[in-house]
Amino acid sequence: MIDGAVQRSKSQPRNEFYLAMTQLDDDGLIGFCRLALTGVKAAKLGYAVAAAHWGRGYASDAVSIMLGYAFGSLSLHRVTAAIGPDNAASQAVVEKLGFVREGVLRDHVFTNGAWRDSVLYSLLHDEWAT
Ligand SMILES: CC(C)(COP(=O)(O)OP(=O)(O)OC[C@H]1O[C@@H](n2cnc3c(N)ncnc32)[C@H](O)[C@@H]1OP(=O)(O)O)[C@@H](O)C(=O)NCCC(=O)NCCS
Repeated sequence: MIDGAVQRSKSQPRNEFYLAMTQLDDDGLIGFCRLALTGVKAAKLGYAVAAAHWGRGYASDAVSIMLGYAFGSLSLHRVTAAIGPDNAASQAVVEKLGFVREGVLRDHVFTNGAWRDSVLYSLLHDEWAT
């Protein structure tokens, strides 16, 4: 996964950005946050943290830093996150950061043998509190 992300980071124009999460005393990867450019000044977010490290604010920190980069350096207008309806922890992460729930994307992804809905959240440049 890291090799693929490093490889894609060299493509021009660049359309994908990753943050790797590690602990201060260890270089081991415990999570990531991904920003993928999707259209005109728009991008979608993805992130995950290893289960042993859940609940310590790592995802919230990483997403917050990535949003600063997205709305600051990249000057994006809109960032979205599509989250499983039952994924309360992930919804809590974006809601804490000011994302607005837009609605449900029906049969948005095919995972584990079935089509599943996603809840779409968005944050606009002017809503981002630096
Ligand atoms: C979603 C995920 C990234 C969260 O990572 P994390 O580092 O534990 O997140 P944080 O600690 O920053 O914040 C989690 C928040 O969810 C809340 N939360 C956790 N479980 C919850 C639940 N069952 N119901 C409601 N809120 C919950 C926590 O209380 C915390 O909010 P708080 O800071 O206000 O207390 C992690 O659970 C994960 O990797 N899950 C699997 C992959 C995934 O779902 N990725 C997102 C795809 S959209």
